[in-house]
Amino acid sequence: MSQSNNQNNDTASLQDKLVKDSIDHNHQTNAQVQQSLQSSTTQQTVLNDQFSDVSELPAGTPQGQQTTRPFNAQTQNNQTQNNQTQPNQNFADLTGQSEVPRFNPKDDINNPHTPDTDGLEETHFGYKKVKKAEKQAKVADVFTSVAKKYDIMNDLMSFGIHRLWKRYTISLSGVRAGQHVLDIAGGTGDLAKAFSREVGRNGRVVLSDINAAMLDVGRERLINAGCNNVDFVLANAETLAPFEDESFDLLTISFGLRNVTDKDAALRAMYRVLKPGGRLLILEFSKPIFEPLSKAYDLYSFTALPLMGKIVANDSESYQYLAESIRMHPDQQTLKNMMENAGFVNCDYHNLTAGIVAVHRGFKK
Ligand SMILES: C[S@@+](CC[C@H](N)C(=O)[O-])C[C@H]1O[C@@H](n2cnc3c(N)ncnc32)[C@H](O)[C@@H]1O
Repeated sequence: MSQSNNQNNDTASLQDKLVKDSIDHNHQTNAQVQQSLQSSTTQQTVLNDQFSDVSELPAGTPQGQQTTRPFNAQTQNNQTQNNQTQPNQNFADLTGQSEVPRFNPKDDINNPHTPDTDGLEETHFGYKKVKKAEKQAKVADVFTSVAKKYDIMNDLMSFGIHRLWKRYTISLSGVRAGQHVLDIAGGTGDLAKAFSREVGRNGRVVLSDINAAMLDVGRERLINAGCNNVDFVLANAETLAPFEDESFDLLTISFGLRNVTDKDAALRAMYRVLKPGGRLLILEFSKPIFEPLSKAYDLYSFTALPLMGKIVANDSESYQYLAESIRMHPDQQTLKNMMENAGFVNCDYHNLTAGIVAVHRGFKK
């Protein structure tokens, strides 16, 4: 994939702008949440339509971009894993420091896999074997390169069928008005846009993604569509560090999981942020169950997709990666086992288009 210096500069400044927006928003919101907690012991009912104003969120349940974490991502993760502390424990008691550091979104989008943490361990990037520490940057290149053409390519490549797969996923969500929904690796926001309507003015949707270019396209699209109950948060699916434990009724991840370096860690993070009784839906390419279809599908994926990518997005390599990453993703039963290992119960899956795609569903007890 050819990346010019200009593109790199644009991407870096976009990334910085989004991170700065997130930090500013966190600071502002934290002050508002503190103020509202101090000034009212009884909750006031939100009566007007301005619910995008964070001061009107129900006190005590800040969500998404409103969330301010008392520790940096690494500290928080270690603490959650070791079960030593609760997120709301007093920072000064724990550290002896009087200043409470704000959560910095950059902590979460930094690569958790480095030569120090993972040594020479390898993983797949499509069919290629790469060091774990290298995968996140390679995936970032793919989505930064395709972001602006992502939606049109999705329609072209799937003949529009991805819309039906997503609609089916929404039908399995059981989402209700007033709920809190997190769309992980949500990219340009197809699911978040639909959930924004479903949860209504008393609900909240967070569209999160690790990639600033994809999230920026999603943010512009949803704001233009008038979705004013949606927050936009840069977050790595492997850690979901900006989000409090047990803070969402519903989690979705659509065509995102296969790009994540450590899928088991991502499933554990999802389990952490889901409320008891909450549900996870994973929409992802899977293993076709009908052999003749499988052959035709292979031919299509490895010839037509890179060609379309070349013509429409001037990028055949990213679409070659797409085809390869689909083949390397765990099959239906393996993914179901992985969900159970992460703690989810009553897991099942539904094959769509003869297993080209599957929706996995699991619950937190
Ligand atoms: C194929 S797109 C799917 C976008 C959207 N969910 C949809 O269904 O159209 C995959 C998305 O996963 C995101 N992604 C890749 N690795 C990620 C990670 N570790 N954490 C969060 N998002 C990630 C990419 O940036 C990209 O936006």
